Amino acid sequence: MTDNTATLTIDGKSYDLEIFTGTENERSIDIQKLRAQTGCITMDPGFGNTGSCFSSITYVDGANGILRYRGYPIEELAEQASFVEAAYLILYGELPTPKQLALFRAMLAEHAQLHTSLEHHFSGFPKNAPPMAILSAMLNLVSCFHPEVLEVNSEGPEFDKTVALLLSKVRTIAAFSYRMAAGKPFMHPNPNLSYCSNFLHMMFSDPYREYIATPVVDKALNLFLVLHADHEQNCSTSTVRVVGSSRANLFSSVSAGVCALWGPLHGGANAAVIRMLEDIKLSGKPISHYLDMAKDKNHDYRLMGFGHRVYKNFDPRSIILKKRVYEVLDELQQQDPLLEVALELEEKTLKDDYFIERNLYPNVDFYSGILLRAIGIPLNMYTVLFAIGRMPGWIANWRELLEHNQRISRPRQIYTGEGSRPFVPLAKR
Ligand code: ACO
Repeated sequence: MTDNTATLTIDGKSYDLEIFTGTENERSIDIQKLRAQTGCITMDPGFGNTGSCFSSITYVDGANGILRYRGYPIEELAEQASFVEAAYLILYGELPTPKQLALFRAMLAEHAQLHTSLEHHFSGFPKNAPPMAILSAMLNLVSCFHPEVLEVNSEGPEFDKTVALLLSKVRTIAAFSYRMAAGKPFMHPNPNLSYCSNFLHMMFSDPYREYIATPVVDKALNLFLVLHADHEQNCSTSTVRVVGSSRANLFSSVSAGVCALWGPLHGGANAAVIRMLEDIKLSGKPISHYLDMAKDKNHDYRLMGFGHRVYKNFDPRSIILKKRVYEVLDELQQQDPLLEVALELEEKTLKDDYFIERNLYPNVDFYSGILLRAIGIPLNMYTVLFAIGRMPGWIANWRELLEHNQRISRPRQIYTGEGSRPFVPLAKR
């Protein structure tokens, strides 16, 4: 391997493969012509070593715990940016000027309402329907009520309008799914409220008592959403890209992203962590019992909120969340017994050889549930909140895919089934 070329030798024949280098000196070997030249494909289930695109949105350095949106470190964004600012940055590549931000906020306010006919669809769901299923279905349905968005491409005023519509309506749909399940009337959006306060108003206000989010709660939710706004080619974002690569519209693409996020190995982990901590607390069993189960290869138990495909040292988002959880509980004058369990679990895990050898550290989901609990978000809405946060990243990746005119996603496989055999008629089986 040289700076620019890698040499691959198969059956004594050598092939020069170009090396691409990214902004931060990450290197990749170009195998786009590999099968045509050699007849071979590469094998990488789970795509741990496979680059699927060039992207200028988010940079993650897993070894050093670095995360940047458009070059800005997550620590600085978490401290200083609102979710709406971070969303604008991710979508448009630059921080908004005050005028751009005001315009963006006005567009979000304008598009918050759902079409009345769309609202009626909520009554068709059973009361105990999972909010992630509702979210995915309703996001797809939005396009039926705004057919113009089906034609939207990656730029221009129509794209801007569609972005605002999606970012705004996802929050209304999420809040309405909660109200429907609680048997409460829908609270319509209030255009005078900030993005997060408006969501909390739609969740918790009643006709006779308006919920007004305190600055602490508003800030905590903003932080949660900023930390989840993008994370390069994770499972749900790759799903959005795969679906979008067939030139499926933005709404179907992000609706598929919601489904991918739902799983407990991905976004569903934030709720699974709380269930795990509650289970540990209620059982009265020592932490070592749960560590043993997680280490036992005959058991499929895993410590939720631990481990990450990319972060092999620490997840910067979990460090930020852990610090903020203390502050929020303090500011709200609350105590959470699950925080003690979480701290003990983290401490014991970080000293355990099994977890040390495998580089398993708390990820973003480990402390995020405790933050959401503190501000009153019900457990079944945690992953929905993740989806609201991830929406800018999904949209930006969908847009980038179109801008790069990327080919349709179509991985290969190595077939390991039966060889060719003659059909056996039913009477002879
Ligand atoms: N508990 C116990 N063991 C674990 C855990 C865990 N949470 N995570 C990984 N391991 C072990 C695996 O059993 C495997 O051990 P082995 O080498 O002896 O077979 C090794 O660590 C590597 O694990 P993989 O599953 O190969 O790692 P992968 O990169 O494929 O998976 C994942 C990453 C899905 C995050 C995994 O660590 C996990 O399941 N964590 C728990 C769920 C979770 O918190 N998901 C949220 C991730 S963050 C996000 O999506 C927003």
